[in-house]
Amino acid sequence: MKFFADTADTNDIRELADAGLLDGVTTNPSLIHKAGRNFLEVVEEICGIVDGPVSAEVVALDYDGMMREAEVVRKIADNVAVKLPMTIEGLKACKALTDDGTMVNVTLCFSANQALLAAKAGATFISPFVGRHDDIGFDGMDLIGDIRLIYDNYAFETEILVASVRHPIHILEAAKLGADVMTAPPAVIRQLVKHPLTDKGIEGFLSDWAKTGQTIG
Ligand code: E4P
Repeated sequence: MKFFADTADTNDIRELADAGLLDGVTTNPSLIHKAGRNFLEVVEEICGIVDGPVSAEVVALDYDGMMREAEVVRKIADNVAVKLPMTIEGLKACKALTDDGTMVNVTLCFSANQALLAAKAGATFISPFVGRHDDIGFDGMDLIGDIRLIYDNYAFETEILVASVRHPIHILEAAKLGADVMTAPPAVIRQLVKHPLTDKGIEGFLSDWAKTGQTIG
């Protein structure tokens, strides 16, 4: 499963990339607002840090506006994936852009039927939001299982990008269900490293090592 960081914070992105943990990045207008940076500048900087897809979201809601904004963002770098909303206008823009060789991430997916539409429109990625689904009393992971089944039934090549990830269990379940990609906040990716027995083990080994009175090198 590929790991994307769901952030526009370039310090976090650099740290995770240095650890070999990043296959791409997703941003959205809220994350750009949180970073307090110029949208085009920060996307360009991120594209220079990671080689994989960097999702940059358009804000127009009509086809012509989306295509105009897509033209601006896709010029930033070859690894930009234009992020479009799950609407008919978004799907039209998805078809036009992917036919033209541009990566597209269709976002705000909350049903398997929506994912089916995105695949038919040629989306590179579909982003089902599991956390926001959980928030309203549905199991977001059921959605991932349904989309996996449907895409496999028809050999769709659209990648399932599990989004709105809130905790390590989401990532574990996404991997067990065969999702292609997950995008999570850097803090959640860092949480995956932690285990109390790892910490306890390190402590024990260091304490015994100190008793040997030796140094390495
Ligand atoms: C995905 O690409 C979105 O940026 C993101 O995962 C949304 O997550 P949220 O529900 O935590 O805002």
